[in-house]
Amino acid sequence: MGSPPKQPGSAIMASKGIVLAGGTGTRLYPLTRGISKQMMPVYDKPLIYYSLSVLLLAGIRDILVISTPDHLQSFKALLGNGDDLGVALHYAVQAEPRGIADAFRIGAEFIDENPVSLVLGDNIFYGEGLSRRLTTVAETGATIFAYAVQDPQRYGVVEIDRDQKAIGIEEKPQYPKSDLAVTGLYFYDADVVEIAQGLTPSQRGEIEITDVNNAYLRRGDLTVETLNRGFAWFDTGTHDALLDASNFIATIERRQGLKVACLEEIAWRQGWIDTDQVERLANQMAQCGYGQYLLSLVERG
Ligand code: G1P
Repeated sequence: MGSPPKQPGSAIMASKGIVLAGGTGTRLYPLTRGISKQMMPVYDKPLIYYSLSVLLLAGIRDILVISTPDHLQSFKALLGNGDDLGVALHYAVQAEPRGIADAFRIGAEFIDENPVSLVLGDNIFYGEGLSRRLTTVAETGATIFAYAVQDPQRYGVVEIDRDQKAIGIEEKPQYPKSDLAVTGLYFYDADVVEIAQGLTPSQRGEIEITDVNNAYLRRGDLTVETLNRGFAWFDTGTHDALLDASNFIATIERRQGLKVACLEEIAWRQGWIDTDQVERLANQMAQCGYGQYLLSLVERG
């Protein structure tokens, strides 16, 4: 069996990754009364596949999945220990929705003084050159990704100057100073654990990721990368947003015959699993389009 085509060589800036798949999902009720929001289908795969794929594309193979006590088991059933993909998946509980930055407190031992990337389990990123952007992030400090949106007041909003330097970040401002939302993908050096541990909860009772980013900004260590109009970024907070994301993915996949966020394909192209392994995984789901897609990869070589 042949080897997969290799991706161009890339440096791995963050060696650890965290997917935060917590929250109560109340804005998607009744869909999410019985199952986690990050398990919702986005066309042909669960929502969490998309965020996980971002970490894999960044070359990260050591990943902690954080979810609620009610839902953690279902993620273990879906994703296992990562062996299938040649990665290591670990799991931890967030007992209360204490905020995004709480992930660094929960994950302190896992991070173990390494650089770390955090992705929110309900965010979807798509665009040409994404892997290159992910593997060339600054080695120190923090890197965040900004994206122009029509409704910035729903997000963390970053104001930048002409040289792309951040001036300030505000969480859900009533009067946003720009239309640039801070997306749910963050890269940090190992200092992030200490910074998160020093934060106090905001008015909404959460340890805010925006406070972490502002701490890096104050020390002159925050890089803001803008994802321009050639990218798609979805958060899937409402029924309409979830449907938009499904339609978008379906449109791209049906037109090209290529899948977005196919974890097995990414692991194969990264050289973490061989073609025999892809075939084994494909045969476990040969009845569905997803499995047939994996088989077609193997056949195309
Ligand atoms: C969170 C962050 C916000 C960020 C958004 C991206 O918002 O607090 O800064 O822009 O994720 O999805 P929340 O999901 O808490 O509304």
